Amino acid sequence: MAALTSHFLLLTWALLLVMSVDSSEQASLLRDDFYKDSCPDAESVIKAAVDSELDKNLKLAAGLIRMQFHDCFVEGCDASILLDGNDTEKTAPINSNLIGYEVVDAAKEAVEAICPGVVSCSDILAYAARDSTVKLNGTGWAVQGGRKDGLFSCAEAAELELPPPTFNVSQLIESFARRGLSKKQMVILSGSHTVGVGHCDKFFERLYNFSETHFTDPSINASYAEQLKTDCPQATFNTTLEIFMDTITPGEFDANYYKGLSEHKGLFTSDQSLFDDRRTRKLVKKLMSERVFDRQFGEAMRAMGAVGVRAEGQIRRNCRTVNPW
Ligand code: HEM
Repeated sequence: MAALTSHFLLLTWALLLVMSVDSSEQASLLRDDFYKDSCPDAESVIKAAVDSELDKNLKLAAGLIRMQFHDCFVEGCDASILLDGNDTEKTAPINSNLIGYEVVDAAKEAVEAICPGVVSCSDILAYAARDSTVKLNGTGWAVQGGRKDGLFSCAEAAELELPPPTFNVSQLIESFARRGLSKKQMVILSGSHTVGVGHCDKFFERLYNFSETHFTDPSINASYAEQLKTDCPQATFNTTLEIFMDTITPGEFDANYYKGLSEHKGLFTSDQSLFDDRRTRKLVKKLMSERVFDRQFGEAMRAMGAVGVRAEGQIRRNCRTVNPW
């Protein structure tokens, strides 16, 4: 019990520390070309390792994009998602389907071989998220470096801090605003649901027993709802079945996610409500343009990648454990 209390005190202290650094200070800790002098080949070595892992399993690309989001929203972008342990963030139910940890391990190993102790795991994750986007034929962006790796990771914090798929637009705006991210950035970052999958249990309640007046969520396109019911039958509730989030081009990092929303084919409430709510509908319509989405996604990822960045911390030698010294 005493150990648990001290763990929480440490966590609270760490959260306060992160929150006490304002967002402009956080952003100024980061720079483009951060490893230009200290490890000039870092970015290319990381990219080669990420590419080689993704060539073996391309599904991990979507996992890595999601992983950076799940890292940055809990205690800031500090690689706390990567720490192994009994009660660390990766053990939280909300992270149970997160994939791609081995890609970060491979990239870390490759970069440690050329520049030991120089490149942080949180920076590696930021580069890997960009390289994964490019691997899925998306447009890349300049990734800033300079993040430090954190010392704490707590499953309960992940469960509390990460937005669930049942969130409406007000809740989404509030969740992103707490990290200094705008409504517009929230809508743009949600566009990463143009790749990857969701599991049936994450939207089951939209299909069956939605409300007293509607058995099925009326905001879902009727034929799409029938398709989803076939894919996720009520009788055989299955949490391992995977459904593409973008019905048009699920393997391509493009603007078709927004087109899907306009056709009422958003998989989660948090997706579909972006089109159904008048506060975000105009943005969704603008982002249906490939050119607009391509240009703005990288900028939004740079902003997300600066959330809660800390001046103090480690450069972990192994991304799964804190350094013993
Ligand atoms: C706006 C609030 C968000 C909510 C409520 C949300 C929720 C979810 C959920 C429920 C899943 C499926 C998980 C599963 O079935 O196990 C998912 C997948 C995914 N999310 Fe989000 N997400 C949000 C924002 C983001 C952001 C900001 C990013 C990245 C910048 C992101 C990237 C992804 C990706 C790429 C996947 C697919 C992962 C895979 O196939 O392995 N999401 N998200």
